[in-house]
Amino acid sequence: MTRDSTSNSLPRATAGETLAVMGDVFVPNIAKGVIIRRPKVVGLAEKLGLDERAVRRLQTLNEKYGSGPLMLNTPEGKPMALILDPDHANRVLNETPEPFATAEWAKRKALEHFEPDMALVSHGPERAERRRFNEEVLQSECPVHGLGARFVQVVEQEADELLTRVERHEGKLDWDMFEATWNRVVRRVVLGDTARDDQALTEMLEKLRSAANWAFFHPGHNRVKDDFLERIRAYLERGEEGSLAGEIARTPTNETTQPEHQVPQYLFAFDPAGMATFRALALLAAHPNQAERAQAEIADHAGHPAPRLEFLRSCLLESLRLWPTTPMVLRQATEATEWENGTMPAETSILILAPYFHRDDRHLNEADRFNPDLWLEPDAAGDWPLIPFSGGTGICPGRRVVQTVTSHMLAKLLRGREFQLNPPTRLLSSKPMPPLLNNYDLEFKVGSR
Ligand code: HEM
Repeated sequence: MTRDSTSNSLPRATAGETLAVMGDVFVPNIAKGVIIRRPKVVGLAEKLGLDERAVRRLQTLNEKYGSGPLMLNTPEGKPMALILDPDHANRVLNETPEPFATAEWAKRKALEHFEPDMALVSHGPERAERRRFNEEVLQSECPVHGLGARFVQVVEQEADELLTRVERHEGKLDWDMFEATWNRVVRRVVLGDTARDDQALTEMLEKLRSAANWAFFHPGHNRVKDDFLERIRAYLERGEEGSLAGEIARTPTNETTQPEHQVPQYLFAFDPAGMATFRALALLAAHPNQAERAQAEIADHAGHPAPRLEFLRSCLLESLRLWPTTPMVLRQATEATEWENGTMPAETSILILAPYFHRDDRHLNEADRFNPDLWLEPDAAGDWPLIPFSGGTGICPGRRVVQTVTSHMLAKLLRGREFQLNPPTRLLSSKPMPPLLNNYDLEFKVGSR
């Protein structure tokens, strides 16, 4: 075990171990695309089982170095630590944004491409104001947003249209069909019905997100960014009733709030929600007993305007636990911090790798199984960090809106129908859930029940 010369410094990985972490954790995640996924690389990562290698790498380091945090052997001036212990993960998340800032430098470099003044990459009073704004607009503490019934209506209208297309497509549903519908839902929920067919806006954002994948290695698309933000401003000025833009029009702001830099996050973060929904459909298709529970819940709540569909929400959460769409939660220490194993220097970038905790078969029963009850029984996981939406004071303020929209998409698609994976062996309840499920090549055969 390597230690710094001072006795109270944290354990430090060797150069070889640091390279191995780069190769098994950072390179695959960066290659898959941190800000927008590259479908071909996702397919390859699934085939090669790269996500499992990342988890095993951290487990090996945990066995050698104990609870950590483990400092990587990075160049002078760029300290980086891995979190290996559940209590440490909870500490970092709870002590956000001081001394563990969300505005970590690599994240800042990436998000600067399209939302440089977003709360996540802000700090101090600016972050406080922007976080307050996002919490209010998204009603982050309300189980169902005040506009929940409207959002459900939007989901049902668009899902109806999708189901008609599925019928015309010989009962087949693939990712491209689903994604087109999902993007319409997202634009209507966030910006209003006038944005329904503004595919150009989604494409602009995709271009900016592709550049953001390269962070500081890409010069940026300044013209596209200006046009994109201008278009967002126009939708916000319109402030259409029944959308988050309408909510924004009613929410107090000041000169630091910068609503048009918060909204791109809403649009962009709905993208992984679509991926998680499609994967949840696959999970239910592969687990007939759980699909029966879903059908029972759907039948029980028929006729209610925006019910909380607890079981379907837990299926979505399981999809995110098994295949987290934000696998790397990053923080940056604003000052030196004390840990039981030593001192972490100021400016350290801290990585909490969600799959390391979500798939820890050493501590979680059935870590690799689809187990919605993990989310339905309040103490099933105790204080274990299940953090698809991050946690603590920086938890995703959009999580409740996401759960409403996704659970009702699942409900509308499943109501009275049976989804079969094509081929049925793509995912099997008799086997552990794979380290990654490529959503882009999933295909379903949809029939009536
Ligand atoms: C499945 C879908 C989503 C997942 C898994 C997710 C997850 C997360 C995570 C992990 C973070 C923290 C990131 C970090 O600390 O670096 C975050 C932040 C955030 N999310 Fe989400 N999110 C989702 C969808 C959404 C949606 C749809 C919205 C808005 C409508 C939203 C709004 C936000 C905002 C505003 C922040 C910044 C919070 C802050 O500044 O502290 N998210 N989300």
